[in-house]
Amino acid sequence: MLEIADIHAAHGRVPTLTGVSLRARAGEITCLLGRNGAGKTTVMRCIMGLLPITAGAIMLDGEALHTLPTEQIARRRVGYIPQGRRLFAELSVAENIEIGLMTCGEGRDTRDWVLDIFPRLRERLGQRAETLSGGEQQMLATARALCLRPRVLLLDEPTEGLQPSMIEQIRQVVLRMKAEGVAVVLVEQRMEAILSMADHAAFIETGRSIETVSAAALRADPTILPRHLGV
Ligand SMILES: Nc1ncnc2c1ncn2[C@@H]1O[C@H](COP(=O)(O)OP(=O)(O)OP(=O)(O)O)[C@@H](O)[C@H]1O
Ligand SMILES: [Mg+2]
Repeated sequence: MLEIADIHAAHGRVPTLTGVSLRARAGEITCLLGRNGAGKTTVMRCIMGLLPITAGAIMLDGEALHTLPTEQIARRRVGYIPQGRRLFAELSVAENIEIGLMTCGEGRDTRDWVLDIFPRLRERLGQRAETLSGGEQQMLATARALCLRPRVLLLDEPTEGLQPSMIEQIRQVVLRMKAEGVAVVLVEQRMEAILSMADHAAFIETGRSIETVSAAALRADPTILPRHLGV
């Protein structure tokens, strides 16, 4: 289980997180929700050690992550698909995947497993990442994270700007990872995606946790989501 306990963080002198708590269990999808600028991406960056926390703790199965450098966090099999899908643009699809595999010393079996999940990437192994379509780039960013054989998967608005067919593919992959026992933390804006996928929803508002609700509660009260997302 990934457990975030009352974390605080700042950008320069400006406090951006002032008490965020979240639990993500294996085999469950935990949606991290809040309005634009609430701090969702910042929480993910803190989990990955890309931004230091100033108070609180981030624990994975009882081990502190917040004292580790990013590389060591990734080696604990924490996969991160950043908002806006950052790839090595000038490298090929194959090279991007290779970099993912190297992080945890994964080999051919994992490469085959990932390319079976994304057959489209297999057809484009020699192509430079920057020449892929938006949907294919999202596939590659996801594939690279799967190369860690993740225990935890962090996805920051993975379907932003994608066509419906691509959205469905990403959705299927997330559900598959849940079925394989991965603890998924998903930032998502589309209500139907949240309602159909989330096991829990953790809401944050201006950098602070306000409420965590179960999927059943979300479905029972259709006013919860629009109230917190401001839509
Ligand atoms: N690099 C930065 N420098 C200064 N302030 C930042 C930086 N990145 C984020 N912030 C501030 O931190 C707060 C949280 O931003 P964050 O990007 O985490 O929000 P978010 O919930 O992911 O928003 P969105 O839904 O737009 O992606 C905002 O007030 C934002 O202006
Ligand atoms: Mg964000």
